[in-house]
Amino acid sequence: MPDTLARSSDTAPKPADLPGFGLGLRHQHYQQIAEAPGRVDWFEALSENYMVPGGRPLWWLDTLRRDYPMVLHGVSLGIGAVDPLDMDYLAALKTLAVRVEPRWISDHLCFTGHAGVNLHDLLPLPYTEEALAHVVDRVRSVQDVLGCRILLENVSSYVQYAESQLSEWNFLVEVAERADCDILLDVNNIYVSAFNHEFDARAYLAAIPPARVRQIHLAGHTHKGSHIIDTHDHPIVPDVWSLYGEAVRLFPGVPTMIERDADIPPYAELLAELDQARGIAQRAARETAQEAAA
Ligand SMILES: [Fe+2]
Repeated sequence: MPDTLARSSDTAPKPADLPGFGLGLRHQHYQQIAEAPGRVDWFEALSENYMVPGGRPLWWLDTLRRDYPMVLHGVSLGIGAVDPLDMDYLAALKTLAVRVEPRWISDHLCFTGHAGVNLHDLLPLPYTEEALAHVVDRVRSVQDVLGCRILLENVSSYVQYAESQLSEWNFLVEVAERADCDILLDVNNIYVSAFNHEFDARAYLAAIPPARVRQIHLAGHTHKGSHIIDTHDHPIVPDVWSLYGEAVRLFPGVPTMIERDADIPPYAELLAELDQARGIAQRAARETAQEAAA
């Protein structure tokens, strides 16, 4: 992790590649992770859980990062908010990054609060030219402070804005291209939003430039009949696995991880789910090679 505070985002280094399949680092599994090394290629730690001066979680992170590559994933950057960037938050994130040396740092393309009030949700932006310019400026500022490119993740959403001028996927791509940041593509979020807003999830995937996709998220959700809620408390559903099969054809070799944030199952269940992701990626790679050879 570079230690320079001032670095132009134009020259910010691209995140180092990270092969394989990861899991979210959850406190329920610390001990088992330490006792069963090698079953997971890397872990994603939630930044805000470790932006503290000490304590047990930070001790575990310090311990496990000796054996596993780590990435940091945040929920509080508020890249799309209109409040000023929280420089204290960024300083604390940078301090953590210097300590953990993550392969990259990610957060969400959303806003999370307004007028100093934290709304504790990942809220979608209006996809307008004005919002685009605003977000691009803020991504550049964040990258300058952190001294590296960040990854921005597409969020799941339940509302849309009448003012939007761009599709969500065009907005995401424009942010990445203009700010020179990378994309964390959440396949479940695409599925959820595609159902909620009746757009074509596969068209979304096809619009994303592969060179910008550095990581893929998978997760479970809750289907309420008329809409889907992104709950991260269930196994991944077959339709999302199917969409993932499409994603790994378009973005081969991109590291994938599974997010589980509630109703945390035994570690073995997540390992089995991760093996399912490995199998789908391997099958897609085989089929792509066969098609190329035919
Ligand atoms: Fe995600």
